[in-house]
Amino acid sequence: MSPGVAAGTVRIFDTTLRDGEQAPGAGLTAAEKLEVARQLARLRVDVIEAGFPAASPGDFEAVQRIARETRGSVAVAALARCRDGDPQRAVEAIRVAERPHLHVFIATSDIHLTHKLRMTRNRALAEARRWVTYGREQLGPDVEIEFSAEDASRTDVDFLLEVYEAVVDAGASTVNIPDTVGYAIPAEFGALVGRVVALVGRDATVSVHCHNDLGLATANTLAAVQAGARQVEVTINGLGERAGNASLEEVVMALRTRPTQFPELVSHVQTEQITAASRLVSYLTGFTIQPNKAVVGGNAFAHESGIHQDGVIKNPLTYEIMTPQSVGLSGSQLTIGKLSGRKGLQGKLRELGHEVEGEALDALYREAIALADAKKEVTDADLLALVEQRAAEVPASVSLLGWSVTSSGGGRSTGSVTVTVAGEERSADTTGNGPVNALYGAVDQAIAPVLGWHPVLAEYEIRAVSAGEDAQGQVLVRCRRSSDSGKGALTVSGHGLSTNIIEASLDAYLVAINKLHGAEISSVRAAFVGRAPAEEMP
Ligand code: KIV
Ligand code: ZN
Repeated sequence: MSPGVAAGTVRIFDTTLRDGEQAPGAGLTAAEKLEVARQLARLRVDVIEAGFPAASPGDFEAVQRIARETRGSVAVAALARCRDGDPQRAVEAIRVAERPHLHVFIATSDIHLTHKLRMTRNRALAEARRWVTYGREQLGPDVEIEFSAEDASRTDVDFLLEVYEAVVDAGASTVNIPDTVGYAIPAEFGALVGRVVALVGRDATVSVHCHNDLGLATANTLAAVQAGARQVEVTINGLGERAGNASLEEVVMALRTRPTQFPELVSHVQTEQITAASRLVSYLTGFTIQPNKAVVGGNAFAHESGIHQDGVIKNPLTYEIMTPQSVGLSGSQLTIGKLSGRKGLQGKLRELGHEVEGEALDALYREAIALADAKKEVTDADLLALVEQRAAEVPASVSLLGWSVTSSGGGRSTGSVTVTVAGEERSADTTGNGPVNALYGAVDQAIAPVLGWHPVLAEYEIRAVSAGEDAQGQVLVRCRRSSDSGKGALTVSGHGLSTNIIEASLDAYLVAINKLHGAEISSVRAAFVGRAPAEEMP
């Protein structure tokens, strides 16, 4: 039994936009966060943890926009430390939500109390009570007030239980048990969760939040559900600090695939939306998914060996414990040609997990038809790449008017570009050790005098979106500003997509420049630089 969660269900609390975004280099703009939140709503998670409003004005803004826009059964959560200022900002940001969910936390382990917070156990307990009481008073009796004991799995158990009892008494409706550093082992963690459930489970929902430092986040989360936890905190693709968090797709598909292990328990997740969510998050954060990643990796449903292929042809159950369709892989490859209509494209996109209409559909249709002119076949992967590219659009202060490059075997390349920077037209040319290097150098020369910085390339990756000689090339770059250096410097990703890989490279670079220029980034991590010691990040 869990008071805030319908009987027979596990509440899925998605923290991709908060803990996931804390992964170094995964910074998202407010617009990108909103796009992910929309996809999470389509996925039908129960709670979207939208951010950490006290971290920066950008994060406050992003959380408030998500809170305003998300309607229906999905709750919007905001995180706050138990310290003056944080909970106030969080309450202000989520007050506009149809279903606000306040999440306050403080560390309880002696390691954190002694070395990080420099606080006694009694003081931490008092702060926990104080801010839970504050949240309850501000938001009223029906709103979820969640309390997390950071580093719970390394906290003295008697003290931990005392804290949970105190915060429930103060009005917390959910108590979360974070395995903050991914230290727990499933049987041990299940036993701890069982004790918390026995103590406060009648009055509050018991939740878990597992990190993956030992590769056990999913296992620990499932052990916790078996021990009575009824909220799980997860992220798409397991994105998160260090080795990441428990991955939503693994936890949800385990619940669905092994019902006898989780008797009469289901989640509300629309699993057919998992692939679309996974691709979108990977695209916007620039974190590629390893091919052998469970559920969403490129090879998760691929069968290479003859014996396996033979078995799957005879009966997929021989080697597949879930169907590709159940996670939103349509299985079909050939999609659209020059003669396809708008409606056909809309239907195909729906099959791939994207509801597109109106102007967005018109624009995508024009792009898909142009692509069908440039290459023989437009595949599902091509279409998804087009949709994702639109989701990542940023306002352009710097735009490309023209470029050319000459390159020959053994010699240096010469590139020239013309761009507009804040309305001013500028041209530059330079040489480099290859065509992309030469063009990036020319862009740097053109923009630096106006912006006062140029991008520093930290990563460059190119891949073919689909098979065939005429495949589109997708380029991913990661850049920071030359004027920002050191730990915590804001790093953003940019993508370019074209059948011409030089053009894709330039487009990716321009997207990254515009993101850096817009300073629209809401990254929790970036926001903390210079405001609070890094070790205070949860
Ligand atoms: O890992 C952690 O302890 C957290 C808490 C804030 C829930 O992210
Ligand atoms: Zn965490």
